Amino acid sequence: MALLLSLASIALLGFVYNFGSSPVSATTEGKEVTHGSVIKLQHERTKFRLHSHEVPYGSGSGQQSVTSFPGVEDANSFWIVHAPSGTNVQQGDAIPNGSIVRLQHVRTRKWLHSHLHQSPISGNLEVSAFGGDEQSDTGDNWKLEIEGTGSVWLRDQKVRLRHIDTNAYLHSHDKKYSRIVTGQQEVCGVTKKSADNIWSAAEGVYFPVKHKD
Ligand SMILES: *[C@@H]1O[C@H](CO)[C@@H](O)[C@H](O)[C@H]1NC(C)=O
Repeated sequence: MALLLSLASIALLGFVYNFGSSPVSATTEGKEVTHGSVIKLQHERTKFRLHSHEVPYGSGSGQQSVTSFPGVEDANSFWIVHAPSGTNVQQGDAIPNGSIVRLQHVRTRKWLHSHLHQSPISGNLEVSAFGGDEQSDTGDNWKLEIEGTGSVWLRDQKVRLRHIDTNAYLHSHDKKYSRIVTGQQEVCGVTKKSADNIWSAAEGVYFPVKHKD
C-alpha cells in the first residue's frame, strides 16, 4: 500500500513537473482533497505556500527547516497527503473533518513535524521536516479542522491543521527571514486560534474521490 502510494506519487510528480502549474484550473475548485494527492498549501492571509528545502535550522532542533514561500511555482512546495501510519485508507479516499493527516515533503521525503523546540524568529513552537519513508512518529500527526461548513476537505476551503502532540496550529505570518532563505516567512506552531493559522489546498494533483457503493 505504502509502496503503491509512493510509486503513484512519483508518477504524478512527473506530471506536475512536465506541465508546471497547468493542472490548476477553475474547474477543479471545490473538489475533494483526497489521500495520496500532491498539494500546495496556501497560507490564507499572506498567500505564501508551505515550503521546505535542504536547509537545516541554525537553532532549536537543527532539523530541516520549513518556511512559507512567496512564489507559486516552486517544486519544493509540494506535499503528499497521507493518513497516519497503520491506518487503513486508500488513495482517493476523502478526508472528513477531524481526520488525522500527515504531510510528506515530496522532494526530501520528510514529514511535516513539530515539537517543543522554539521557532527561530517568534519563539513559538518550531515546525520542521523530519524522518522519511521508513521513519515517522506521532510528531508528524496533524488534525484537520475545517472552517465554516462542509464535512470533507475541499480544495480552496479554509482549514486549520492542529498538531496532535502539542495542540498548536500550523501558523505563518509576515515575519521574514533576512538571511539564507531571505524573503521566506517563518512557519511555526501557535496554540491560539487566529487568522494566521488558516490555510487552503491550492495547486496540485488531486486523485478523484473514490465513491463507495
Ligand atoms: C470541524 O471540527 C472542529 C473540531 O475538531 C470544529 O470546531 C469545526 O466546527 C468543524 N467544522 C465543520 C465544518 O463542521
